[in-house]
Amino acid sequence: MTAREALAESERRLAAAGVETPRVDAEWLVAHVLGTTRSGLAARLDDEVAGLEQLLARREAREPLAYVLGEWDFRRLPLKTDARALVPRPETETLVERALALADGIERPRILDVGVGSGAIALALKDERSDAQVTGVDVSADALALAAENADRLGLTVELRHGDGAAAAAEGWDVVVANPPYVDDLEDVQPELGWEPEVALLGSGEHERLARAARAQFVVFEVGDGQADQVAAVLERLGYAEVTITADLTGRARVVEGRLP
Ligand SMILES: C[S@@+](CC[C@H](N)C(=O)[O-])C[C@H]1O[C@@H](n2cnc3c(N)ncnc32)[C@H](O)[C@@H]1O
Repeated sequence: MTAREALAESERRLAAAGVETPRVDAEWLVAHVLGTTRSGLAARLDDEVAGLEQLLARREAREPLAYVLGEWDFRRLPLKTDARALVPRPETETLVERALALADGIERPRILDVGVGSGAIALALKDERSDAQVTGVDVSADALALAAENADRLGLTVELRHGDGAAAAAEGWDVVVANPPYVDDLEDVQPELGWEPEVALLGSGEHERLARAARAQFVVFEVGDGQADQVAAVLERLGYAEVTITADLTGRARVVEGRLP
């Protein structure tokens, strides 16, 4: 089968499976088996494609594209991605942006990433702020193993710890950054979420628990769509100053920060 035929067939099957972006996903998969990029596909449409079926079947079963490809870009980093940890999301890049802004002007900032997952936030921070001392904590040993593999692959040095985020946050930091679990229940969500670890998704009240525990100059949290005002009110009630909400690139309010006076 040529790449052109494979693209048409993959798009048709992914659309039938209910995948939201069947053409884009088909392009990612075909590019992956050809060892090229999506933009490189145009020059390879007449090439023969092999080894696509298994990957296509996984995506048809609604396994996240990032798990099927095994690698996913986050800010400047290609991260290994698999079912041990959440797929890094684009809105989390805005969280990193804010954490970097808050750490700006602090020499050798001590930054804690609560719920380090694949290592996305901690490693992006270290990559973009090389003098930072970055620690990542997670309750999931699986996630920590993946984060360690990513740190190793990328040659970035961060401290990784097993344990509860709130306890770590209480130790005293310049910045505590967190993308904690904030999904109430997994009914009526996209099937892709069913492939991701429940411990990474399901949670309520985690922002407040962290905000109460944190001893830090700044906290900065990712929040679910529609949660920003409520989390901002929690920070204000707890005495945080300069409480600010930032929208992600799609304009949705997804990051809340505050400073401890
Ligand atoms: C939404 S995921 C975020 C993963 C990664 N930071 C990212 O943004 O892609 C939440 C992470 O928090 C971890 N987690 C859940 N409860 C925790 C707790 N009490 N203390 C530390 N980590 C926790 C989960 O294992 C998961 O890796």
